[in-house]
Amino acid sequence: MNVEVSGLTKVFGPGVRALDGADLAFRGGIVGLLGPNGAGKTTLMRVLTGSLRPTAGRVVVDGHDLATNRGRRAAQRTIGYMPQELGLYPDLTGREFLDYMASLKGIGGRRVRCSRVRDMLSRVGLEEHGGRRIAEYSGGMRRRIGIAQSLLGDPGLLVVDEPTAGLDPEERMRFRSLIAHIGQERTVVLGTHILDDVSQLCSSVTVLSAGRPSFHGTVRDMIDVARGRTYEVPVGVPVGQRAMVVGTSPEYCRVVAPETPSRGRPVPPTLEDGYIALMCLGAE
Ligand SMILES: Nc1ncnc2c1ncn2[C@@H]1O[C@H](COP(=O)(O)OP(=O)(O)OP(=O)(O)O)[C@@H](O)[C@H]1O
Ligand SMILES: [Mg+2]
Repeated sequence: MNVEVSGLTKVFGPGVRALDGADLAFRGGIVGLLGPNGAGKTTLMRVLTGSLRPTAGRVVVDGHDLATNRGRRAAQRTIGYMPQELGLYPDLTGREFLDYMASLKGIGGRRVRCSRVRDMLSRVGLEEHGGRRIAEYSGGMRRRIGIAQSLLGDPGLLVVDEPTAGLDPEERMRFRSLIAHIGQERTVVLGTHILDDVSQLCSSVTVLSAGRPSFHGTVRDMIDVARGRTYEVPVGVPVGQRAMVVGTSPEYCRVVAPETPSRGRPVPPTLEDGYIALMCLGAE
């Protein structure tokens, strides 16, 4: 599913330009959306899903222009959204919550809804827990009910905002595998700070900086930003002022640097090195 964004701007108040004339295009696959805190990722995702109106600019999802009521309604039928702040109802059971969300989405009647809710609970591995109150769910279970909610309408575009933040390694793997499966059939926009998830899942990566994309390419392209700029330097040897230390071991500091540090040995870069190089040194 195609998503086209042009000149997208969102001003929240004097001096707060969360989006600043962003141009973007997504065409299928799992797209990683990266960027520092406050870069505008959540704002972009809220605008993409029609939950927030932009100050200026245009969003077209699958040919539907979100600026018109008709276009927005049509687009929203094909979009699933898992927000950063999950608005769950703690007193409802997982099953009741999904049933309620399905009825808000106009999925009906009762029988169809019931079977859709059952399918979603099993899709996210919560079939045993559908009868428990959400208040009793762990963080990972809450995320899973959040993703189940976003899949209720069988969306062609799924927008997920930091779905794996705060999950333990096993739960994160489970989530990763779920998103990988979902991404085989739909376009997924995955907002995250977890570069490991991006390198394992994403076909392309967009980095937002101060409300605008500063990079768009494949995972490999992003790693390449640090190629020839990543070194190991023996501990105790000064690394130079513009070098960013990205890791240490008892013997070496790993650095991303604009030029070879003294006694620096070039090493193959990772996605994290590419991201640091992009943010601190800029693309070459
Ligand atoms: N409802 C709002 N009212 C006022 N300012 C807002 C609002 N939502 C976001 N902002 C501001 O817009 C900017 C972008 O915020 P946004 O939440 O989109 O960033 P983000 O990239 O998702 O950050 P994070 O990685 O911390 O989730 C920030 O300066 C933020 O303070
Ligand atoms: Mg955010």
